[in-house]
Amino acid sequence: MIEQLKIDVLDINHITNCYLLFDEDTKEAVIIDPADKANLIEERIAYLGLKPKYVLLTHAHIDHTIALSEIMNKYDIKTIAGKLEEGILVGNNDDCSNRYGLEQVNYNMEDFILAQDGQVFNVGNLSIEVIFTPGHTKGSVCYFVNKDNLLITGDTLFYNCFGRCDLDTSDIGNMIRSLKKLYRRFKNVNIYPGHGKINIPIDNTYDDVRVLMYNNYKIDIGGY
Ligand SMILES: [Fe+2]
Repeated sequence: MIEQLKIDVLDINHITNCYLLFDEDTKEAVIIDPADKANLIEERIAYLGLKPKYVLLTHAHIDHTIALSEIMNKYDIKTIAGKLEEGILVGNNDDCSNRYGLEQVNYNMEDFILAQDGQVFNVGNLSIEVIFTPGHTKGSVCYFVNKDNLLITGDTLFYNCFGRCDLDTSDIGNMIRSLKKLYRRFKNVNIYPGHGKINIPIDNTYDDVRVLMYNNYKIDIGGY
């Protein structure tokens, strides 16, 4: 089961999707991208009677992490992130804080589990696979949940576009390879992006992504 929490980051009408993903039988849960408003996330966890096991990050930009430290402390849990996102987490690369008038956050790596491509984490009866999808950031990942056939895509893939590739550690070539990797492998999954509409069949995103890639970069990503 997945539940979307639309978080208005810093109350500036910038909405990030935070998700509670949980096993209905055991109530074990993960919190995906605790963007902001820790109290709102905690209230929902209490209401649903969930037992948080990990935080999952799709990437380490500040508009996905403002409530991260508070949530980790509250439940005494670690955060899973892609191994290649370490540079942003330790403050060597930009987490985009200054765009929001905030200070860069430098995390203690003891609080993190840096995952490899293909690594699987079990939460109750759910298995959650980490899929490296660099492009928006070097360490961006998607998470595939086998049981409900859903794909959490962060800022890699949205319902009608892909994530911007003009930030620190962004790379358009990586983005193209990551998108093709997703389209080749996943046919009947629904995507749950970091912003915007959720529960979209991945195939429905392809035409818009292809047009956008061509219009912005004059690159035809071809079929898949
Ligand atoms: Fe981002």
